[in-house]
Amino acid sequence: MKDDSKYYLKCVKCEHITPDFGVWFEQNQVCPECGSNHSEVWYNSDYKELPLIIKGNPISFWQYFYYLPLSKQENVISRNEGAVSLQNWWFLEDFAKEKYGLDINVQVYRNDLNGGTGTFKDVAASLAASIFKEHDIKQYCVASTGNTATSYARYLSIAGINCSVFIPDNALKASEAMISAFGQQVLRVKGDYSKAKKIAAEYSKKYNILISIGNIDPIRVEAKKTMVFEWLRQLDRLPDVYIQAISGGTGPIAIDKGIREIKSVYPDLKNPKFIMVQPDGCDPMVQAWENAEKNGFPDGFEKEYPILDNPQTAVPTLATGNPATYPIIAKLVQNSGGTFLRMKESKMIDYAKLVAFERKVILGPASAVCMAGFFEALKKGLIKNGETVLINTGEGVRRAPDFVNEMIYTTKNVDSIDECKPHEIDDYRKQLWEAVIKD
Ligand SMILES: Cc1ncc(COP(=O)(O)O)c(C=O)c1O
Ligand SMILES: [Zn+2]
Repeated sequence: MKDDSKYYLKCVKCEHITPDFGVWFEQNQVCPECGSNHSEVWYNSDYKELPLIIKGNPISFWQYFYYLPLSKQENVISRNEGAVSLQNWWFLEDFAKEKYGLDINVQVYRNDLNGGTGTFKDVAASLAASIFKEHDIKQYCVASTGNTATSYARYLSIAGINCSVFIPDNALKASEAMISAFGQQVLRVKGDYSKAKKIAAEYSKKYNILISIGNIDPIRVEAKKTMVFEWLRQLDRLPDVYIQAISGGTGPIAIDKGIREIKSVYPDLKNPKFIMVQPDGCDPMVQAWENAEKNGFPDGFEKEYPILDNPQTAVPTLATGNPATYPIIAKLVQNSGGTFLRMKESKMIDYAKLVAFERKVILGPASAVCMAGFFEALKKGLIKNGETVLINTGEGVRRAPDFVNEMIYTTKNVDSIDECKPHEIDDYRKQLWEAVIKD
C-alpha cells in the first residue's frame, strides 16, 4: 500500500494488497496470492471529513468522492444517481398501528428516482463507467437479469465504452430494447440466468474482455455502500430493519462494508435486521434458510442451498436460481437477527395497486415484491414497537412497462352518457386494502 494513494484493494481471504483498479484489472480481477475474486476497497483517509460531507446537500452519490475508488474527479460519469430521497410512508405506519398496535417509522428509499435508468443499479454503473474511463478500458461485458444490464449499457455508452450484455431468455423486452437503443450489444441466451453467466464468462475469457464479477464486485459494493452515508444524512441514524427483494444480494454486502468502513467516526453503527424477500417463483435462498432453521442452524448451514434450474417467475429481475452468494448473505442475515421471507407473486399487482392509490407512486415488479415483504414481516411479528423500517424499493415501473397494464381496475366500458356518472376516489380504498390483507 502506498500512503500517498487514495485507496487500495485488500483480499478478503489472504489480505494481499492490490494497489488500484488498474492493477486489479491486469490481474484479471483476482488476488495473485490466493486466486480469490473477493477483495474490498479501503481508503487512506481518517474519515474526519465524512460527518461534515454527510451534512451536505448532494445531487448524486459523488458527494462522497473521497470515499470512492476514483482518483480524478474529471473522470466522473454521472446522471444524478444515488442521492434519492427517503420518504416517510405514513399509510404503512397507520396500518401497522391499526392492525398490530405498533408505533413504527416507515421510510421508503426511492431508487426509482435515480437519474440513470431509475433503479438501484445506477450507482454501480456510474462508478464502473468512471473507473473504466480512468483506466482506459474499452470493452466490458456483463450477465444480468435486466436492470444491471440496462444501467451498465447506458453509463458505459456515455463513457464511450463497448458493453456486451448477456441476458437470459426470460429477460424483459423493455430491458433488451433499452440496451439495444443505447447501441450496446445484446446477447440473449437460450436458457436461464445461470447459463447467461456461463456464456458471458466464456466470452470474457475468449476475447480477454473484463466482466462484472457479480455481487461481491468491489465496484458494485463501493457504489452501494454510500447508501449508509445517505441514510445517515437523511435520517441521522441507520434503520433498525432493512427490507429488500433479493436476487444476488449486493445490498446487504455493501451496507455491511459501509458500516465497517466508517467505524472510526461512527463506532455505534450496526447492521439493521436484514429482511430479504424472494417471490415464490424463485426462492432458493428462502428454501435454504427455512431448512437451516428447521435444523437449528448447524455449523456450516450457509453452505447448503438448492439450485433451481430455469426458475419460473413473473419477476425476471429476481430470477437467480443458483444463489452462489447465499453463504455470505446467510451469515450477514443471521448475525443481524434478520431472516428470508417468501411472498406470493400472484399478489404482486395488489401491492402495486395499493401503493399507487395511497402514494401515487407506481412500483415496478421487484419493488412490489419488496413491499410485500413489509406486510409479511408485520404478519410474522418481525418488526417491533418503536423500530425504524427502511424499505429499499429498487425500481419504478418504467423498467417493466407491461406491469402497469395489469393495474387497470377503474375502467367501465360505456356506450352512452347514461352509463357515465361521477365517482368518489375513496370508494376504491377498501377493496385495495382487502386484496392485500387477505391470504
Ligand atoms: C429492482 C431490483 N430489486 C432487487 C434486485 C435484487 O438485487 P440483488 O441482485 O443485489 O440482490 C434487483 C436486481 O436485479 C433489482 O433490479
Ligand atoms: Zn488473496
